[in-house]
Amino acid sequence: VAATVAVGLGAIKRGLASPNGLATACKPLCELALAPTSRIELGGHELIGRTPMETADLLHRRSGLFGERLLARVRGDLREFQRNIRPGTAIGCGRAIEELSPRPRGARSGTAQQAIDRIRRDLRDFSRRNRLDRVVVINVASTEPLIRRQGLPDRWAALDRQLGKRSGAAPPASSLYAIAAIQESMPYINFTPSLGCDVPAIRELAEARGTPIMGSDGKTGETLLRSVLAPMFRARDLRVLSWTGHNILGNRDGRILAIPANKAAKLSNKEQLLASILGYRPHTHTGIDFVESLDDWKTAWDHVHFEGFLGTKMNVQFIWQACDSILAAPLVIDLARLADYHASRGGRGVMTHLACFFKAPMGVSEHSFAKQVDALHGYVQDALRR
Ligand SMILES: NC(=O)c1ccc[n+]([C@@H]2O[C@H](COP(=O)([O-])OP(=O)(O)OC[C@H]3O[C@@H](n4cnc5c(N)ncnc54)[C@H](O)[C@@H]3O)[C@@H](O)[C@H]2O)c1
Repeated sequence: VAATVAVGLGAIKRGLASPNGLATACKPLCELALAPTSRIELGGHELIGRTPMETADLLHRRSGLFGERLLARVRGDLREFQRNIRPGTAIGCGRAIEELSPRPRGARSGTAQQAIDRIRRDLRDFSRRNRLDRVVVINVASTEPLIRRQGLPDRWAALDRQLGKRSGAAPPASSLYAIAAIQESMPYINFTPSLGCDVPAIRELAEARGTPIMGSDGKTGETLLRSVLAPMFRARDLRVLSWTGHNILGNRDGRILAIPANKAAKLSNKEQLLASILGYRPHTHTGIDFVESLDDWKTAWDHVHFEGFLGTKMNVQFIWQACDSILAAPLVIDLARLADYHASRGGRGVMTHLACFFKAPMGVSEHSFAKQVDALHGYVQDALRR
């Protein structure tokens, strides 16, 4: 996702591609005074040694994305991105992610507090070297195993004390990046199902520091379609008896999601949405399988069995075939611009107006895509009136 964001921003900046797929390029969002995409600089943290250029080349060769000429023209942008990448932390990420790192022990050594201090230094350094007005931190790292947040203290003061200890429950890396960003007053967005900032103690910290936050888990494919279709069944009183789905995908995200604990984090987001929209729990099952040959292309097949007038049972089936990173990258750019805009106007706390971008939007119980988009447009109208 990160490499595709870099290719996309480079291509748009050089006039090699239209901003197709960016919600912030269309009305009404484009009417806000958003940062131009040409002014965005990229940086990040990584565990592996592969450069964004190598990842982009791989996406081109294996998945047929981008063109060779386009890749050649954005090479400089990808090198610039690479210069801003620092070694990340794998604390609390589980074995599969730790083992991505060529120095798995190093990536999880030290205390959580030491990792946070290092990330904060990297973020400040990135901002200073590039003379940035603002940094927005977006988590697009691999999905961590499902973590029970009950193990973590609810209050920030208690969690803060725990971060410096070598024993006891430490929050996972996604939460350490979140804490570092919030403490640097940099808006934080969690595009993954990992825990990130969705912990009472971290929300308390964000509130106290006045830093905008949002998550979790980008709504890009099957779940997007579910959040469009499910309100129709409800509005027409067509009772959904079962909603089963099967996903096959082949990229590294797919490899990590094939591990049961990591998969559980993704599935819990996908399934909660249906019950919340329908108002009851139909039989559901969602499968995610890793099929290496598919590379970045994902297929989701959904079968919805429903009951209509006079108890007649019918079904609808759909197949969604799409390229994962091509769906996600424009959302990441939109989120960066919208979070920057919100912070520039003194916005703070959970950015609930961004719910339409997420499978499990923090602080929002409304899952219907149309209603979430209405809420975002309402925010825009309010902002334009002020
Ligand atoms: N359509 C989509 O692609 C989509 C939609 C919703 C959510 N997501 C989520 O976005 C994330 C990224 O997806 P992707 O396809 O780019 O995955 P990917 O595996 O290609 O890239 C993830 C990168 O994160 C790095 N990483 C893992 N843990 C890290 C850590 N603790 N610190 C720093 N770097 C770390 C990995 O080395 C890897 O290079 C996944 O969690 C995925 O579930 C993607």
